[in-house]
Amino acid sequence: MKRLTFLLALLFVAGGANGVAAQTIRISTDATDLILRVADNGRLYQSYLGARLQHEADFQHLPQGREVYLTHGMEDYFEPAVRMTHNDGNPSLMLKYVSHETTGGTTVITMRDGQYPVEVRLFYTAYPRENVIVAHTEISHRQEKPVTIYNYASSMLHFDRAEYYMTDFTGEWAAEVQMTEQQLHFGKRVVDSKLGSRANMQASPMFILALDGPARETVGDVMLGTIGWTGNFRFTFEVDHLGGLRVISGINPYGSEYTLAAGEVFRTPEFIFTLSDSGTGKATRDLHDWARRHRLKDGMGTRLTLLNNWEATYFSFDEAKLVELLDEARKLGVDMFLLDDGWFGNEFPRSSDRQGLGDWEETVEKLPGGISKLVAEATERGLKFGIWIEPEMVNPRSELFERHPEWVIALPNRDRHLFRSQMVLDLSNPAVQDFVFGIVDTLMTRHPGIAYFKWDCNRPMTNIFSPYLENQSHLYIEYVRGLYNVLERVAAKYPDLPMMLCAGGGGRSDYEVLRYFTEFWPSDNTDGVERIFIQWGFGYFFPTKALGAHVTSWGRQPLKFRTDVAMMGKLGFDIRIDGMSEDELEFSRGAVQNFKRLQHVTLDGDLYRLFSPYDGDHAALMYLSKPGDKAVLFAFDMHPRAGARALPSVRLQGLDPARMYLIEEINMMPGQRSTFAGNGKVFSGDYLMRVGLPLFGRAHLRSRVLEITAQ
Ligand code: DGJ
Repeated sequence: MKRLTFLLALLFVAGGANGVAAQTIRISTDATDLILRVADNGRLYQSYLGARLQHEADFQHLPQGREVYLTHGMEDYFEPAVRMTHNDGNPSLMLKYVSHETTGGTTVITMRDGQYPVEVRLFYTAYPRENVIVAHTEISHRQEKPVTIYNYASSMLHFDRAEYYMTDFTGEWAAEVQMTEQQLHFGKRVVDSKLGSRANMQASPMFILALDGPARETVGDVMLGTIGWTGNFRFTFEVDHLGGLRVISGINPYGSEYTLAAGEVFRTPEFIFTLSDSGTGKATRDLHDWARRHRLKDGMGTRLTLLNNWEATYFSFDEAKLVELLDEARKLGVDMFLLDDGWFGNEFPRSSDRQGLGDWEETVEKLPGGISKLVAEATERGLKFGIWIEPEMVNPRSELFERHPEWVIALPNRDRHLFRSQMVLDLSNPAVQDFVFGIVDTLMTRHPGIAYFKWDCNRPMTNIFSPYLENQSHLYIEYVRGLYNVLERVAAKYPDLPMMLCAGGGGRSDYEVLRYFTEFWPSDNTDGVERIFIQWGFGYFFPTKALGAHVTSWGRQPLKFRTDVAMMGKLGFDIRIDGMSEDELEFSRGAVQNFKRLQHVTLDGDLYRLFSPYDGDHAALMYLSKPGDKAVLFAFDMHPRAGARALPSVRLQGLDPARMYLIEEINMMPGQRSTFAGNGKVFSGDYLMRVGLPLFGRAHLRSRVLEITAQ
């Protein structure tokens, strides 16, 4: 056996790198080039990353650049992409180019170490039309015993510009993705998460990098980057002594040194990025197109409008109340009723968040007819029925915990640490994976009429210890792999089941998990003003159809204001209709109809950000249908100060200057007439884009929705 491993190792090393002819590797979209080159020393360098170059003959003039996937222990002074310790204790790695091939848009570059049988393969998939590049890495070796890898980046990218500005999307529960831009100077800026399960509660896995100046909407070079990993992630931005910037993206290696067995392939998550030479607007539109066409579950499909009972009832409901809500959903004209938390548990009924989590049987006292009765009542009213689960979690006060205390992530010799009175199930354990899959499977088998799931996850990990794993530093990674195993099984058995991802709001939102979810819940905060900011932030990376947005009572703002905000996402309601006036109900029904009529524009069209809420007391954005014949514009006055400077006109974007457009204000309260001077008038695209419209005023909490139709 030993002999065989030795021979394999020899073969591996012999395939190494010396004497390889100079190679240029071009990874390109219709608008971007990433040009890598093998230097005479056999190592791989990034010669160029930027707007697509017109003449291949120019490639020879490109500088050598910096090494593409820098290793620890050799000649570099800064943060490496990869670090490992070999069987003999040697902590260095020297990667040399071996070969590359491009098939179906994916370029795979193989590199090896000449001293140790270690192989690193870099993968780049280019999406030409959408101008997106997706990168990941595979690391493997054939040493006799396992090696330890300490760093394992998905990608490393280099920039050489005069200035760098990075925007992060950080916050906390109910204040997700607040945008902060800062200039990067010498040294490191790290954006990461160590929260494990509800990983993005404080920092979301996305950033904007602006080159040569702060990010702007319609001009300038920018990159949007995001990582597809539903766990701890890390972005490291490091500016060196010469002003070069390296951006290293991947799983957060914190507490996660990985013991890699011979022959095992460590596959990193994907780093997804787009470059724009005309500001963040284009970058967003490209990323949205990519997501809809290639990533988001049912990305090209329509979405279900819904009534959710969470903020309408919290835990306080019974069958009769839910049937009333079904009637209200029908009155509203939405497609579906979504039953939220509180429907399960018998020995420990889920009457509050302190118990019952894990016991996925209907509470008989509350719901004597069970889910079957509710599905039947919904169907009778022409409604679909959706249901909430939080399958990765358990309350210690539950039958599940009594049966399986060993299924929980917790240090055996420390005090139990609860968060929302609950603990995280150990998804690294295949038995737990079976259990979690079984929750969906049993519900679907018993009630095939269930048309939708809301999958929640309300706590991060603490007290990190898996009773199942031998190697504790694998837990953060194995947890995420376990989650994907389960979601893969759900997708295989129920491929057309729409699902909403939730994590106490937007605590999970990345492009790997969104393969399995049609949308996510950006925040529990549904205050209209706060939501403008939160949806604005997520909107840089995720298309409107991925952002659940519900009308609720939070914030007590005018119903129209809250509804107009929710129409900039996937519209739903979380509110009692019986408290509405006749006019309010009529308005809401009209809004549902408008949303359905215009969703080909808002959900599938191009987003143009016209006025940022971060720039003052107003906000405006616009969606333009793909054929360009219809647009919907949303404008908001939040809390303008009486003494604020002059009100800016809103200049539209993306229109045809030569075409004429009719402007009509919609989503009006019954009997209300538009006070907007441009209502019912026809303007040229040229006028709308150069002069703009006086959409803002000094009133508080006022909103307008304009339907714009090409003539
Ligand atoms: C947190 C979610 O974000 C809410 O929408 C709701 O589903 C509650 N959990 C239920 O416990």
